[in-house]
Amino acid sequence: MKKTVIKNMCRLHIYIGLPLIVLIEAMAFRTLFTISLPIITFLVLFLQNEWIKITNYKLEHENLPVDYNGFKVLQISDLHNRRFGRNQKKIWKKLEKIEADIIVVTGDTLEENYDRWSRILIEMLVKKAPTYYVTGNHDYDVCHIFYHKFEKFMIEKGVHILKNECTGLGCMKIIGIDDHKLEGKELFKERVDELGKEEGFKILLSHRPEFAKEYSNAGYDVVFAGHAHGGQVRIPFIGGLGAPGQILPRYLEGIKTIGDTKMVISRGLGDSLVTQRFFNRPEIVVTELIAK
Ligand SMILES: [Fe+2]
Repeated sequence: MKKTVIKNMCRLHIYIGLPLIVLIEAMAFRTLFTISLPIITFLVLFLQNEWIKITNYKLEHENLPVDYNGFKVLQISDLHNRRFGRNQKKIWKKLEKIEADIIVVTGDTLEENYDRWSRILIEMLVKKAPTYYVTGNHDYDVCHIFYHKFEKFMIEKGVHILKNECTGLGCMKIIGIDDHKLEGKELFKERVDELGKEEGFKILLSHRPEFAKEYSNAGYDVVFAGHAHGGQVRIPFIGGLGAPGQILPRYLEGIKTIGDTKMVISRGLGDSLVTQRFFNRPEIVVTELIAK
């Protein structure tokens, strides 16, 4: 056989063989891609809602009495009666590692008259440290009589429910404000002002962060709030998309300074209307107070 014929046959093999190999590989890749994409998407979305993060802050405040230097506040917010594993085991695994002087729960533990998972969480909290509670708007959702049953349960377990009242820990005051869902904003603001007149280092527990100016004007030193769920869906480098009660969302998460007031805003653990979090893992916040 002549050399040119052999060469032509080789070329023919290459012309047919290579595209065939590319086609087969492309099909294999497409199949793999088609199968793996929904699995990866599912895992990412699942983890965004299930993977609890512990956020640790050191909060310096010049008014903090030296005796309270290193005082640790563990904050739980916005559970919305969500379940994290069997009998809230995933939460307990996180909680048992944390040392705290007090626990503050900043509302919205219930969701639409269900409290099974909320009760389990409360039982865990009271075992760890003195626990203080303020209501959120969802605690009063649908039927506030239901909340009162839950409140009775919490009192039996030893939770300190602060309904527009102040309790003292020496020269540190823990003040809790009831959510304005039942009685309206005006009365809420009046109570914020009135309770702000207490003497000492004042820690305010209030579900709603959007009243930041009112809290600061009333003279609170530190505020713990929730409600905003971190903006629910967060875009990298931009932040959360929005929050109830905030036209331009400023108070979504982290520590914000408003005048002499520092406000710690938890992204919370659960969800309500929008059920998917994005770049916004469920959060437990631990704040260590530092005297300047
Ligand atoms: Fe809320």
